[in-house]
Amino acid sequence: MIKRLLAGVAAAGVLGGLGFLYYAWYPPIAPIERPNPASFSAEQIERGRIVAAEGDCAECHTRTDNGGGPELAGDYRMDTPFGAIYSSNITPDVETGIGAWSEEAFRRAMHLGVSRKGVHLIPAFPYDHFTKMTDQDISDLYAYIMTRPAVHMSRRPNELPFPLSLRILQAGWKLLYLRPGVYKPDPRHDALWNRGAYLAEGNAHCGACHTPRDLMGAEKKGSAYEGAVVDNWIAPALNEHNPTPTTWTEDELFQYLRFGVAPLHGPAGGPMSPVPHRFLSTVPEEDVHAIAHYFADVDHAAEREKNDKAALARAMEESKTDLIGPNVDPDAKLYQGACAACHYNAAPTPVLGRPDLALNNALWLDEPTNLYQVMLRGLTAEEGQSGVAMPSFYNALSDKDMARIAAYLRRTRTTLPPWTNLEKKAAEVRKTVQPVPVNSSH
Ligand code: HEC
Ligand code: HEC
Ligand code: HEC
Repeated sequence: MIKRLLAGVAAAGVLGGLGFLYYAWYPPIAPIERPNPASFSAEQIERGRIVAAEGDCAECHTRTDNGGGPELAGDYRMDTPFGAIYSSNITPDVETGIGAWSEEAFRRAMHLGVSRKGVHLIPAFPYDHFTKMTDQDISDLYAYIMTRPAVHMSRRPNELPFPLSLRILQAGWKLLYLRPGVYKPDPRHDALWNRGAYLAEGNAHCGACHTPRDLMGAEKKGSAYEGAVVDNWIAPALNEHNPTPTTWTEDELFQYLRFGVAPLHGPAGGPMSPVPHRFLSTVPEEDVHAIAHYFADVDHAAEREKNDKAALARAMEESKTDLIGPNVDPDAKLYQGACAACHYNAAPTPVLGRPDLALNNALWLDEPTNLYQVMLRGLTAEEGQSGVAMPSFYNALSDKDMARIAAYLRRTRTTLPPWTNLEKKAAEVRKTVQPVPVNSSH
């Protein structure tokens, strides 16, 4: 009896295995001659440029280490918890890029994460978002990519340990996590909201950085936009749990996403910086409005913004306190010497070029990570607002000094409990930052 049962289980296992292999198997799609760039209309290529900008393709497909690389030629290094992954060359080079890919093969890669040859792609390529893109957008994107200069260049091999290096495992991941299918408009909302949701959830893949991931590297279900760690920065929550004292209203979001700085929050730094500067400043304004409109709903701005006036008034009050002397608090002195010359404000509102620290996410997150990143790296005029820069304090402040400033700001500018282990954390963040040559900082 038991034997029979076991045999049955084994047979089910084999059948399940076969079913899985059937599920996992995709045929190769025949190579084509590189499409003639003249076969695409100028209008379609321009539409494709916008789709590529909204999807940040160039950010992940252009090498930044080893002296950089040609646009879209791949070999961009992504450090994941599983090991380093290098992106593919997506220029139309026939041998090393995707020049031999038909539009059908390209669409399958975007929608299902399968290469032309039928190989499963690693979800570091965010096809769990791109699967939501319409055929029209993908067709336009194809036209744009096929008309870029072809670059003959190969990527470095991935550094994933066995068995994660087995491509078949990606099929298991997809079975568990990938929900293929083009975005379906939500009839309860208007066209602007749906356009914003389509872009945010799909092509612009905001959740890839702002949603926490589970142990399998998948975005956690039910935790959309709860905030996550990315490249040693914190991408704050974008839902109602966003911690900043003034609300991310539709207008604040629009300013931030379009111009890289929001009057009541400050600039987009770190990994967020290219989203406005390199991409969303180059697309139709209406699309940026749509994304802002969508997130103002995701974070319940309408219900929360009634508290903004009081929060702003409090921040302006706090900004004044450091300037009243003689101050006996040694931490306040340290802060005054290092930061206050640029970071003071007065009622009624902060000056755009002087982000008010009481309003910036850096002080309100559970960890001082972003505050330390900004102190160590500074913000160049290209990264933040043009015309102003924040100097790097990599050499000017020790870990202990940074810890004292962090504790002081948290104490005087927020209503939250103090951070812990501040000096140790300063040392940890410092390790992730390229040392700044002594004479180039202040
Ligand atoms: C967050 C980083 C990231 C972004 C953004 C991104 N990609 Fe990728 N992409 C990757 C990585 C990493 C791979 C390699 C995956 C692998 O080796 O399995 C890849 C692979 C691909 C492939 C498969 C190429 C091949 O030879 O198998 C295509 C096609 C592609 N990406 C197109 C795009 C397009 C078009 C965009 C913009 C809409 C884009 N990617 C945006 C990271 C990214
Ligand atoms: C590559 C990762 C990445 C992507 C993609 C990304 N973000 Fe961010 N985002 C971040 C990081 C990191 C920060 C913190 C930046 C800082 O503090 O200067 C941030 C900050 C923000 C903030 C400010 C939050 C606050 O409380 O200060 C908003 C709003 C935002 N992102 C919206 C978006 C939207 C909308 C998208 C999609 C269009 C998006 N982000 C895509 C990484 C990303
Ligand atoms: C010389 C002027 C100057 C000094 C000194 C200075 N900052 Fe800044 N800081 C700026 C400017 C300007 C910006 C906005 C940069 C931009 O948008 O490009 C900024 C931005 C910031 C941000 C916001 C970053 C973001 O991504 O949202 C933080 C946090 C910050 N500074 C903290 C500090 C701290 C802490 C000190 C002292 C250790 C300090 N700053 C000293 C000029 C300064």
